[in-house]
Amino acid sequence: MIESFGEIGGIKIKRYVLANKNKMQVKILNYGGLINSIIVPDRYGNFRNVALGFETIEGYVAGRSSYIGSLVGRYSNRIANASFVLNGETYTLPANNGKNCLHGGAKGFDQYIWKTEETIDGLRLLITSPDGDQGFPGNLQVEVNYVLNDDNSLRIMYRAITDKSTPVNLTNHAYFNLSGGADDTILDHQMQLNADSFIEPDKDLIPTGNIMPVSGTALDFRTSKKIGQDINTIPGGFDHSWVLNNSGELKHAASLYNEKSGILMHVETTEPGIQFYSGNFLDGSLTGHNGKKYSKHSGLCLETQHFPDSPNRPEFPSTILNPKQIFRSETIYKFEMQSTP
Ligand code: GLA
Repeated sequence: MIESFGEIGGIKIKRYVLANKNKMQVKILNYGGLINSIIVPDRYGNFRNVALGFETIEGYVAGRSSYIGSLVGRYSNRIANASFVLNGETYTLPANNGKNCLHGGAKGFDQYIWKTEETIDGLRLLITSPDGDQGFPGNLQVEVNYVLNDDNSLRIMYRAITDKSTPVNLTNHAYFNLSGGADDTILDHQMQLNADSFIEPDKDLIPTGNIMPVSGTALDFRTSKKIGQDINTIPGGFDHSWVLNNSGELKHAASLYNEKSGILMHVETTEPGIQFYSGNFLDGSLTGHNGKKYSKHSGLCLETQHFPDSPNRPEFPSTILNPKQIFRSETIYKFEMQSTP
């Protein structure tokens, strides 16, 4: 199903509604290729929207810096000092996060209006980011496939090709609240991360170069615990990159559970890292679905990706895509319900 969703600069914005046999629905916009809502059954057989989002395109434009539900690129997360050297050449990017470049620069993929093709079980989105876009080299063709399966899993498959070597790090920036808004924050959600270590950040969330064990820290989510349990020991809240116990195969990365709804979400990915961001910068100024004000910790992101600042960190897994190579990445968000309260 396709619905109209207003327009931007004369371009019509469309909302695509994917549905499966269990009546689970995922709504996606061609603007930012973003996830507008994810509607899943709870333990009572009622349906709840577990993804933050807005009812109007104006909402998204006003809330742009929160990247709610967006596809993020060319480079998700931060590149230090908004520059990198590749094959002897220095590339300068927009500094849109202090002196650093965040989420692809001033006009990232979240602001593109993507070309869309409906597929048998989902939606394909396509863009071409031209050579020099936000300072990045090479014409980059990007394809993202959203697939909704009957086992209540949403698969996101990313592919890209380039004609010059360039960094690529793609993710989706959905904010989840598995209570469907019944809980104002995600602090009571239980979360588990399949990660023994994390990338130590400096005060601007740029890697120091140290990879630290989670053991004995607030970042230890190896066994499921409430997000609120240790959050107050981290100034501002969680906004870190965890190193997944993962070898490039599609593998369990995280699970998230809300007792009120009984909704359990599993995350699997081929990516080596996950940025868990606890919605620290949401400040109540944006009003989303069902008139909900989005305040600090109203939702959380589990952004599967490579590590921050990899173009400047040769010791991290490479994010460089070369001509004749195909960038591939896949992430699955799968929803189940627990029947016993
Ligand atoms: C990412 C970053 C956060 C913040 C959000 C968007 O998760 O790590 O610091 O910029 O995006 O608000």
